[in-house]
Amino acid sequence: MIKTRFKDHNCGQLNLTNIDEQITLSGWVSTIRDLGGILFVELRDRSGFFQIVANPQINPQVHKVLERVRSEYVIKVTGKVSKRPEETYNEKYPTGQVEMYPESVEILSESKVLPFVLDDENVSEDIRLKYRYLDLRREQMLSKMVMRHNIVKAIRNYMNNLDFLEVETPILCKTTPEGARDYLVPSRVQEGKFYALPQSPQIFKQLLMVGGIEKYYQIAKCFRDEDLRADRQPEFTQVDIEMSFVEQPDVIKVVEGLIVDAFKAAGVEVKPPFIQMPWQEAMDRFGSDKPDTRFGLELFDIGDIILQSEFQIVKNTLENGGIVRGIRIPGGAKYSRKEIDDITKLAVSFGAKALANIIYNEDGTAKSPVLKFVTEEQAKAIQERAGAQAGDIIFFVADKPKLVYDIMGRLRLHFGKSLNLIDESKHALLWVVDFPMFEWSDEEGRFKAMHHPFTSPCIEDLDKLKSGDLGNVKSIAYDIVYNGTELGGGSVRIHSSEVQSAIFKALGLTEEEAQEKFGFMVNALQYGTPPHAGLAIGLDRLVALLARTDSIRDVIAFPKNAGAKCLMSDAPGIASLQQLRELHIKSTANLGK
Ligand code: AMO
Ligand code: AMP
Repeated sequence: MIKTRFKDHNCGQLNLTNIDEQITLSGWVSTIRDLGGILFVELRDRSGFFQIVANPQINPQVHKVLERVRSEYVIKVTGKVSKRPEETYNEKYPTGQVEMYPESVEILSESKVLPFVLDDENVSEDIRLKYRYLDLRREQMLSKMVMRHNIVKAIRNYMNNLDFLEVETPILCKTTPEGARDYLVPSRVQEGKFYALPQSPQIFKQLLMVGGIEKYYQIAKCFRDEDLRADRQPEFTQVDIEMSFVEQPDVIKVVEGLIVDAFKAAGVEVKPPFIQMPWQEAMDRFGSDKPDTRFGLELFDIGDIILQSEFQIVKNTLENGGIVRGIRIPGGAKYSRKEIDDITKLAVSFGAKALANIIYNEDGTAKSPVLKFVTEEQAKAIQERAGAQAGDIIFFVADKPKLVYDIMGRLRLHFGKSLNLIDESKHALLWVVDFPMFEWSDEEGRFKAMHHPFTSPCIEDLDKLKSGDLGNVKSIAYDIVYNGTELGGGSVRIHSSEVQSAIFKALGLTEEEAQEKFGFMVNALQYGTPPHAGLAIGLDRLVALLARTDSIRDVIAFPKNAGAKCLMSDAPGIASLQQLRELHIKSTANLGK
């Protein structure tokens, strides 16, 4: 404890062992009550609460000062710790057996009436974000900040013990390869040029490997201009890691150890090794590359059966590269027409053109419009494949693979939640491995890197890369998933400039574009690059999940709202015309003043 003129003890740490000690405390007045002329103040600092009592008979001056005091005033009190009468012990607080009748009290700072009651759980998030500095006074917020600190401390300890070097990388950068939109910063001294804020330190950490750092980590700020959701912020923090002379299993082992320590710091025990699930299996069984394995409802494939049938629409889809996947809902035969319509609408909102269903009645009969297209035998085969019993319903969708996985994966999560199938006490950690290198983008009409373009393709697939069979090139990439959220991702990197150039070419970058964007990186690879690999964990997500909150905003001291705005400071703000002129920017919006 740092002892100062204002405080030499913490409110929340006082107990019977401090009786008769002469101490000074400072803090906020949490509550003040007048009971029969005697004032009871609950004094709060970061450590907790302590009761101050002012009796006008015992110390009229103190009582007089405290009479002026209101909630959230900051006061300093000096006096002796005393034992409370036993019948007034307060079990709610660790300090509930002691109190102080101060000899002196000083008001350090007054407070206006707060815009919201601190412990009111129904205050809107907008108000809390506008007055975040007040929101942080709440125990629920403070405890999350403490947990975040403890997790970061454990991570730093772990990495330091393994001899990793913490190195800072620049914030004013050139564009980075993660594939979101960049935040740009105009240059004043170089007219018409822009820095990009890093979407991750990806390039720099690889250059650190070329630079011989061998083992790097950083608690790094990253910036991505993308549509925000509960688990996305425009600026967020990664635990960023890169290592030389390693392969995938080595990185996985290091990260598993890190996860153990980080979870332990939040009071959760987990045991590696975690399951490693190939990407294709994750998609087939769960419709997601971040499967929530805390519940079943696994998907099944009835494509081979449908292909034998007269179910022409779906057959056409299958013959044109589509797939069909189904899900069985136990007991779902009792759904009403409206309930089935609502589920269908949900699937349509996820992008489905149609959602077929088959009801397996309790009496052993089946009901569905699709039964007119299949023989009895095929119907039986579908039922067996689904594992459906009397009383169940199955739903299925046929379409392009990406869409089917997405729709069925989301339906599965919907049922998992709405049927209360998720065991909240579980800690389901797993690796997803063997990712495809590329994914086809319908919007852009080209292949994009599934992770980023520095990810190494599998050596066996180099021929496919050359022959242009890009859809079948696998990468040496891995994601770590916790309870259905992608916590982190990484890969073995390309350490040959030829392979790197081939990947850029496959991604449709001309040589000039590749040179202009990432030339310094490709050049660096030509000067003796160690084989290297790494990974980044989303720290905000990790803490939010361990703190059991739905939104990463809750574990960030000063987050942005869904409009990427800071409700407290009102950032982003207006720039003056003078500033814009200096930056060589002509604004079409009427921004400048
Ligand atoms: P990736 O893009 O998968 O990989 O990011 C790694 C992890 O960062 C977290 N994350 C986010 N958290 C909050 N808000 C966001 N907008 C956001 N975007 C990502 C996720 C994610 O798993 N350079 C690579 C890592 C590597 O290859 O080493 C990278 O950034 O938890
Ligand atoms: P009908 O329109 O009555 O001839 O029946 C067609 C059935 O096929 C309906 O039950 C639809 O839900 C189903 N169906 C049509 N297209 C698809 C698709 N892409 N995926 C799943 N089911 C489909």
